[in-house]
Amino acid sequence: MKSLLTTTLLVLVLANVRLGVSFTVIMSDSGAPSSLVDGPQSGLPTSNNGAWTDAREQEAVYDIMRATGNDWATEIPDVCRGRWHGIECMPDKDNVFHVVSLSFGALSDDTAFPTCDIAQSSISPSITKLPHLRTLFFYRCFTNNPQPIPSFLGQLGSSLQSLVLRENDHVGPIPYELGNLTRLTVLDLYRNNLNGSIPVSLGRIIGLRSLDLSCNRLSGSIPNITFPALSVLNLNQNHLTGPLPNPLFTSNSLIKIDLSRNRISGPIPNLTNLKDLILLDLSYNTLTGPLPQSLQGLESLQALILNGNPSMSTTIPETTFVGLDNLMILGLSNMNLEGPIPASLGQLTTLRVLHLDNNRFNDTIPPSFADLDTLSELRLENNRLAGPVPFKRERVWRMGRKLRLNNNLGLCYDTKSGLGDDLDTLSSAGIGHCETANLGPGVSVQHTSTVGDADHMLKSSTKSGAASLAKRGSISRKMIELIVIFLFVLFLF
Ligand SMILES: *[C@@H]1O[C@H](CO)[C@@H](O)[C@H](O)[C@H]1NC(C)=O
Ligand SMILES: *[C@@H]1O[C@H](CO)[C@@H](O)[C@H](O)[C@H]1NC(C)=O
Ligand SMILES: *[C@@H]1O[C@H](CO)[C@@H](O)[C@H](O)[C@H]1NC(C)=O
Ligand SMILES: *[C@@H]1O[C@H](CO)[C@@H](O)[C@H](O)[C@H]1NC(C)=O
Ligand SMILES: *[C@@H]1O[C@H](CO)[C@@H](O)[C@H](O)[C@H]1NC(C)=O
Repeated sequence: MKSLLTTTLLVLVLANVRLGVSFTVIMSDSGAPSSLVDGPQSGLPTSNNGAWTDAREQEAVYDIMRATGNDWATEIPDVCRGRWHGIECMPDKDNVFHVVSLSFGALSDDTAFPTCDIAQSSISPSITKLPHLRTLFFYRCFTNNPQPIPSFLGQLGSSLQSLVLRENDHVGPIPYELGNLTRLTVLDLYRNNLNGSIPVSLGRIIGLRSLDLSCNRLSGSIPNITFPALSVLNLNQNHLTGPLPNPLFTSNSLIKIDLSRNRISGPIPNLTNLKDLILLDLSYNTLTGPLPQSLQGLESLQALILNGNPSMSTTIPETTFVGLDNLMILGLSNMNLEGPIPASLGQLTTLRVLHLDNNRFNDTIPPSFADLDTLSELRLENNRLAGPVPFKRERVWRMGRKLRLNNNLGLCYDTKSGLGDDLDTLSSAGIGHCETANLGPGVSVQHTSTVGDADHMLKSSTKSGAASLAKRGSISRKMIELIVIFLFVLFLF
């Protein structure tokens, strides 16, 4: 289970990094929509002749269905027996059915939840007459009829475990009353237009495992609350300010934290408790330095993304990233980082993606980077680096355009390493070889390489130029031959 989750997360993380898309992980055992779709109706025998739906709940379901534009449902004499995808019921000991789950919205092509009439739908207050309701799911339901999240949902506190209101264009604040839903394990309000601050009352939901409030317009600082069982925390793409509250980072069950694209300030908090954390994304905020001396304890961490925190303005302690033995993605772009790149980064041999661009790193690329055998993407552009590029020819060639070196002070290549400016990455960044351009550190080799290294560059460029010309020549000769044959055939007929 854990490894599956890990793999899933990694794939999602990669997708996130590459496409900039966002996503939510809903825990598989918490009433996720997928378990509603094709799963058997738990506890519902096929021949249950004596069972009927609780009359009050039946009326409530009719109201809820009418309020979403699904009047057809009121024709169904017993909603739990003539049920549709999107309603789940359970019998009690007296064989009376109770509604435990309601879902709405066209989640995907293969789900057939009732859809909503988006121009008129609302959530009927009759929902409070379903005292056994565990899961409530509305997806893209009220988009042409923007409305607040009703505070009466707070009355479902004795039963509700999963509340998902995704992409509904809900407006206004998160109702304080949602803090009464103390049995929730999933609260997902992703992509609405919610504003105001995150209510402190949510701190009462001590069993919460997944909290997704991302892609809203929430403001104010993140309250000082702890969720002891929390695994997934998504607050990204809001207008949150203030420092990161330490209590939030003490839940040792956390596996994913995404607080990116807010206006959060202050330093990175103490993360030592987060032994299972796989993804931490704090990018595009206004966090300040210093960086923690050590992140030891985060032994599960696979992706650490801090890009776009220009107020960081600090050096990286040599010890900060030591011991992150599972790290695959490290993003440190645009942070105004200065001084040398720590050589210890070269010990992170699981790294695949490393972004260090748009900082003020000086000195050399650490020779230890030659040990980063699985690296497939490295950005070092727009820094003040000088000296040799420490990679073997094969790695430079493999990374191709995902190795970015342009706009540094004086990077060069050592021909002994097999590198040459026939490699696009080097030639396009104007990088010449170190021996002839041995002008000492800090002196621009790149800008003078065309002069200092002219002979060599000319030779190799004409060599490869001639080769590609010859190739092009042979292709176009073939083309001309074909055209001539074609014209000749045409002429014959
Ligand atoms: C929430 O719970 C408090 C008591 O903890 C109660 O006073 C309040 O009426 C409840 N609100 C709702 C909407 O159920
Ligand atoms: C939230 O948005 C509504 C409009 O939808 C506005 O009237 C209200 O003042 C906003 N509240 C805050 C706290 O920004
Ligand atoms: C959060 O709690 C800490 C002490 O644990 C306190 O110093 C800080 O001011 C609190 N922040 C807020 C926003 O309440
Ligand atoms: C971080 O917290 C742990 C215990 O939770 C503590 O041992 C350690 O000293 C703290 N580190 C810093 C830098 O405060
Ligand atoms: C690199 O930058 C640091 C701080 O920004 C400075 O102290 C150091 O002298 C610089 N080193 C070189 C080789 O330029």
